[in-house]
Amino acid sequence: MSDDRFTPLAARLPATVPFVGPEAAERAMGRPFAARIGANESVFGPSPDAVRAMMAAAGEVWKYADPEAHDLRTALAAHHRIPPESIAIDAGIDTLLGLTVRLFVAPGETVVTTQGTYPTLNYHVAGYGGRLAEVPYRNDRTDLDGLVGRAQSDRAKLLYLANPDNPMGGWHEAGEIMTALDALPDHCLMVLDEAYGEFAPPGTLPPLDAEDRRLLRLRTFSKAYGMAGARVGYANGHPEIVAGFDKVRNHFGMNRAALAGAVAALGDQSWLDGVVVSTAAARDRIAEIASANGLAAQPSATQFRHRRLRQGRGFCDGPARCARVPRHLRADALRTAREPGDPHRGGHGRRPRSFRRNPARRPR
Ligand SMILES: Cc1ncc(COP(=O)(O)O)c(C=O)c1O
Repeated sequence: MSDDRFTPLAARLPATVPFVGPEAAERAMGRPFAARIGANESVFGPSPDAVRAMMAAAGEVWKYADPEAHDLRTALAAHHRIPPESIAIDAGIDTLLGLTVRLFVAPGETVVTTQGTYPTLNYHVAGYGGRLAEVPYRNDRTDLDGLVGRAQSDRAKLLYLANPDNPMGGWHEAGEIMTALDALPDHCLMVLDEAYGEFAPPGTLPPLDAEDRRLLRLRTFSKAYGMAGARVGYANGHPEIVAGFDKVRNHFGMNRAALAGAVAALGDQSWLDGVVVSTAAARDRIAEIASANGLAAQPSATQFRHRRLRQGRGFCDGPARCARVPRHLRADALRTAREPGDPHRGGHGRRPRSFRRNPARRPR
């Protein structure tokens, strides 16, 4: 980096692009992907109610969004039966992770995470001059005891856990999370990333809480709600911790139409149920394809399957994401991704309008 006007910290950061998006990969390849499954988006898309709400709000985008996101916070509070003061809303979990690091991690302080897990937090830690302590997976699962032990030994300020995890897809039950919390030192906040929480089996997510100062929960409308491009996520925690976000967030950083869409999506739980059922069916099908091709798929509570390709030699966390997947398996997996099932068939009761209008989205 040659420009000496950068801060010393920014000048020291590697000039890497953390995520190469599917669009960049398509431009590099010179053709579109046959199936877009590498970014863990939901091919089912949002509830038609959410689409309608966003369309209705589109004409209003000359107005900034309500910086308090009052309607969505109120709707989330009613949905989860928690006080609105225990909820902060921002543009996806990725944004909330950055704010969390900014609020809690001074230069040189430690954040504990799992080596190879979802990496956004790591970029924020580097960006704010924090120090990362990484704990390897144990038996292909995040190692709760190892993470807590490292938080104690390194006097960590944050412990990050994605539950269910990306890329492994595995999960810990709520009881295990609570046991880990009990062992967490006072100086450390557990940041529980529940991006895939809606897909997880009952008993995975501890009840949302407004009293527990040891824990910050992060959820999103990007995954099961099918609204990744809208950028809406939320944090839940003790109101004093949640109020901290107001000190550092971009108060006008939310998209007005996206907020309206999220309120409508939350109100259409039958759509969500249909997506979850159809996703489970597609996940099982992918596991069958893997096993028919001699690959063991890891148990998954997400909308992707992780396969160990060769012992000790690289992993694949989405059939289209890994060039090392054999060609015949890639073809099978792509076909399955194009036939994600229809929430209609999953007992949902309505066919998504977007599937009707856009033939490219229609299951073939
Ligand atoms: C574990 C995990 N957390 C967060 C995100 C990003 O969430 P958001 O779209 O709300 O920023 C992802 C996206 O893949 C993820 O896998």
